[in-house]
Amino acid sequence: MPSRTLPPASYAGLDFGTSNCLIALWRDGGPSLVELEPGESTLPSLVYVARRLAPIPQPSRAWITQAMAAARGRPGRGGAVEADAMLESRVRAQFAREAGDHALDALHKQTLQEALQLGSTPRFGREALAASLEDPEGFFFRSPKSFLAADIDPVYRARFERIVELMLTHLRERAQAALGAPVTRACIGRPVHFGGGSPADQARGDARALALLEAAARRAGFEDIAFEFEPVAAALDFERQLDRDRLVLIVDVGGGTTDCTLARLGPERIAQASRAGDILASSGERLGGNDVDTSLSFTGLMPAMGRGDTELSGLPVPLTPFADAADVFNVPAQNAFFRAERIIEGIRRRCAADVAHKLARLETLRQTQQTLWLTMKSEQAKVALAQADEAAVTLDRIDEGLAVTVTRAQLSGAIRPLLLGIERLMLDAVRLAQAQPELIYVTGGSARSPLVQAVIRETFPGRPVVMGDAYGSVVSGLAMQAHRLYGRR
Ligand SMILES: Nc1ncnc2c1ncn2[C@@H]1O[C@H](COP(=O)(O)OP(=O)(O)OP(=O)(O)O)[C@@H](O)[C@H]1O
Ligand SMILES: [Mg+2]
Repeated sequence: MPSRTLPPASYAGLDFGTSNCLIALWRDGGPSLVELEPGESTLPSLVYVARRLAPIPQPSRAWITQAMAAARGRPGRGGAVEADAMLESRVRAQFAREAGDHALDALHKQTLQEALQLGSTPRFGREALAASLEDPEGFFFRSPKSFLAADIDPVYRARFERIVELMLTHLRERAQAALGAPVTRACIGRPVHFGGGSPADQARGDARALALLEAAARRAGFEDIAFEFEPVAAALDFERQLDRDRLVLIVDVGGGTTDCTLARLGPERIAQASRAGDILASSGERLGGNDVDTSLSFTGLMPAMGRGDTELSGLPVPLTPFADAADVFNVPAQNAFFRAERIIEGIRRRCAADVAHKLARLETLRQTQQTLWLTMKSEQAKVALAQADEAAVTLDRIDEGLAVTVTRAQLSGAIRPLLLGIERLMLDAVRLAQAQPELIYVTGGSARSPLVQAVIRETFPGRPVVMGDAYGSVVSGLAMQAHRLYGRR
């Protein structure tokens, strides 16, 4: 039998981020980021699947014969007995009408899985966002990683697993296209903890998240899968820049989590087979830029929908529907908001006309289920407020011509829990390691915020702070780990 030489199955580092995904190959002795969108190596963690109309069935001959026979028993139009051809076209038209109504009803009730089975092509990243704006009726998901640890109904878990599988398949295919060969092994990043809660909750949440991620990765075609802490991966990437051994605190402030690792890094250590002894301590929590966005949406955008107003009785308008609407990464809260029609209507009836008018916007938000869109508006305001004291946000999808001004004071309030959390996690890592860092290396998109940078500097006065590549560091380190694991096999 002639021997065939197949291109070697290759490996990748994969950063499955809450806000952005990246995948990197190993090329010319180093990590190489795969282009995921034109000119971009980051893919926003957005997935969109359009609803798809099921093919409308044609009536069978037997059905037509039967329907015509039944119709002959009744007088046709004008009372006369209709000619066969006319009668047939009438029963066919009736069939088409009913089948069309049925298909539209089914479209409305369609599940994600059904849309995919009917051949709807998933869209990712910026394309997904554009498609969701064009056709808001479709299935739109943001930050599926935020839901991996949640203890939710198996139906929702299965749905998230499918979405993660779609994203990982897309990333794998992009890497394969760049390499021109199969990519079946991956070192995938994981935060120190996926979810919040007590240590026991965290352990259970981490187990749920890793099981889901691994199952989705397998279904996406990865056969060998390893996980590495995201801040450890960032440490390995940063290490290449060091000219001598140093104790470094790595701080990664992302969209969903903040992760810290205190590690001994340097040129003397890179070649060691195992780095376990150099990783002194890690800490992390489900706290990141997304929390700032949801909080700023509540405090900065929702006043235009009646939050903070009073009812005619002088009592405050209840906060629950606003809190649920803002909490976009919490499935039960979102479901509660989407079902709050009667509650919102009840509040509206108890308010003066001007407040009722604002509450009508909340009802529009509920009916159109545009809570994710609102959070993205809040995110844009957050980024703009780094440069300006105020940011104007247009909310025309809720009410035509509606514009809201968000202030830096509101951002300061919304970002405070994140700043306190970053400080606590950095000090936790130092305490656990029982060692002080000589320098601090900072990565993650939220570290672009001047307020985040300030809290890091203030926690370690006088210590050098290196601002790294906000997005590429983790995935580069993951590709290095993938090379360490799979490169010699
Ligand atoms: N200029 C900026 N100012 C403040 N925040 C910013 C800025 N630019 C990006 N961000 C925030 O950075 C976050 C995304 O960062 P990143 O891509 O590192 O997250 P991720 O890796 O996807 O998430 P995680 O690691 O938590 O899973 C978002 O919350 C985004 O709003
Ligand atoms: Mg990240």
